[in-house]
Amino acid sequence: VKTIGVLTSGGDAPGMNAAIRAVVRTGISNGLKVKGIRRGYAGLLEEDIIDMNNLSVSDIIQTGGTILYTARCLEFKKKEYQKKAADICRKHGIDGIVVIGGDGSFNGASRLSEQGINTIGVPGTIDLDIACTEYTIGFDTAINTAMEAIDKLRDTSESHERCSVVEVMGRTAGHIALWTGIASGAEYILTTEKYHGDIQRIITKIQDRRKLGKKNHIIVNAEGVGNSAEMAKIIEVATGVETRATILGHIQRGGNPTCKDRVFASAMGTMAVELLCEGKSNRVVGYKEGEFVDFDIQEALSMSKDLDPYLFHITHKLTTR
Ligand code: F6P
Repeated sequence: VKTIGVLTSGGDAPGMNAAIRAVVRTGISNGLKVKGIRRGYAGLLEEDIIDMNNLSVSDIIQTGGTILYTARCLEFKKKEYQKKAADICRKHGIDGIVVIGGDGSFNGASRLSEQGINTIGVPGTIDLDIACTEYTIGFDTAINTAMEAIDKLRDTSESHERCSVVEVMGRTAGHIALWTGIASGAEYILTTEKYHGDIQRIITKIQDRRKLGKKNHIIVNAEGVGNSAEMAKIIEVATGVETRATILGHIQRGGNPTCKDRVFASAMGTMAVELLCEGKSNRVVGYKEGEFVDFDIQEALSMSKDLDPYLFHITHKLTTR
């Protein structure tokens, strides 16, 4: 491998810049040329490709977002575009690409490797929903952002003696809800994986808690469960407790990455380049049982992951009664 490209794809995540920096700096220190591909696969198809050097990644380790921009590219699912992308890589002398993103982005990387371009995936998503790894870049920052927001909601909720239904991101996965729900002492944590629409249990619990003198109630609801506004109305009507719904939304994707996100992103970006230098392709970097490891992309995509069972178990002890 002589020249590598790096791109970010799918939803941005805090720490992506730290990963880009690691790819560029490791590539250069290993004697490679490094090119940045802007706006993910969409930018690759439009040849939005720039030369990168050590300076181009100065002062970015602490910033959120991605300096390479990102996009979701539906076209890339078609073989003709995968072939076109590989031809563009060859035209620019790119023989290896590091793809920072989620499962959809890794699928694209795998298709590109079938077309003869070496690819390595780095897990970048706030959702933590990549099965082969216990850590994804951006999750730690997102949960801290959400936790701080919920702490603030609790202040106003308490002052008005209200109930708050707080919706957090995660697409169809409940990891953000589970972690932020535990960390903010929520009374109920609703996740796509475990919640089956039994709103009566929530209502009964709020009524019981009110009788015991509880002044506010926080319900953390995963985006995949949704319907937070409707849920708030139902709770208010049934309990007589003023209830507000708050959808935290995209603020969870922004902000300066935490120390953990910066360090893990740096390690994963470095490892991705080292794998390319060893001649490996169609692999994804992960973190399992205390070690940075790599998996075949197809194998990684076929794995499944549930919510941490012990964390789910403790929610019964700590949040519901
Ligand atoms: O995958 C990250 C994520 O923020 C999800 O939690 C959410 O469902 C989705 O992206 C939102 O995507 P968009 O930014 O396209 O609205």
